[in-house]
This record gives sequence, C-alpha cells and structure tokens, in this order.
Amino acid sequence: MTRILVIHGPNLNLLGSRETDHYGVMTLEEIDSGLVDFGRGHGVHVETFQSNHEGEIVERIQRAPGAGFRALVINPAAFTHTSVAIRDALLAAGLPFFEIHISNIHAREEFRSRSLVSDVASGIVMGFGPVGYRLALLGALDLLAADRPGSEEELS
Ligand code: DQA
Repeated sequence: MTRILVIHGPNLNLLGSRETDHYGVMTLEEIDSGLVDFGRGHGVHVETFQSNHEGEIVERIQRAPGAGFRALVINPAAFTHTSVAIRDALLAAGLPFFEIHISNIHAREEFRSRSLVSDVASGIVMGFGPVGYRLALLGALDLLAADRPGSEEELS
C-alpha cells in the first residue's frame, strides 16, 4: 500500500487552543485522525509525526525513503522561515513533498512571507485552515497516481 508521511513542525501540537484566529479550533489529534481516515478511503497508508525539534524533523525526513514513504506532506511551521537543515533534508530524501500552512503566510508579518522550502516543493497549500492538509494529501495522491499509467481512475 502506498505510504505518505505527514510532518508537523513546532507548536502545532497546541492546535485547538493556540492563536485560534489564525489556526482554528481543530486539535492536532483531530486533524491527524481525519487524515488517516481520508488516506484509508483513498487506499493509502498515512502516518503522522509532530515535533518541536528541528533535528528530530530532519531525522524523520532522512528515514522516510527507507521506511517506504513515497511522498511527504509537511507543515514546517516556524522552521519554514529559518531552517536550511529541513530544506536540505527534503532535497536529500528526494521524495515529492507538499508544503502546507493553515494560515496564509503572505497575509501576516513580513518575515512569514519567506519560505525556505517553497521553491523545491511539488505544491503549496495555504490559508485554507486545517482542511489544507487534506488538499495537500490529495495533491500527493494525484501526483503518485500520475506516476502509474492506467491508474487515473483511482482518485475519481
Ligand atoms: C504556519 C505558519 C507559520 O508562520 C507559523 O510559524 C506556524 C504555522 C501555518 O500553518 O500557518 O507555526 O506554518
């Protein structure tokens, strides 16, 4: 079964109570269980991971190809704007990845407008709230389906 890894960066463990004007009231557990169900409904195995530590995220990305993941969905959170290490890990892993932000990072403070991973992402979703994770997952599914001739029907 196709495997997709969803990675959440720092402070996203606080979703549900953190800055609800920007991030809404869904908890990370609710988002993650919804993604696992959504993946199951589309015949893919979705695994989720959250860390507040840059090195743990880097290591998880490094291990992803060997663990059989075919694509990543990642919200690097604050590391979006600072982490060359996460960018380098994504490039080294060589898997297609979709960047997702719950809020529209271009409509906030200036420093959030710069992402160190956008130019190497297969796609970017932002400003849709938590449903953006599903949109990013759909993008990954579509990309992987396109790799397999004759499987275009799978997403319909
Ligand atoms: C975020 C946007 C980032 O700027 C911020 O640091 C986050 C969350 C988002 O999902 O909108 O923690 O990635």
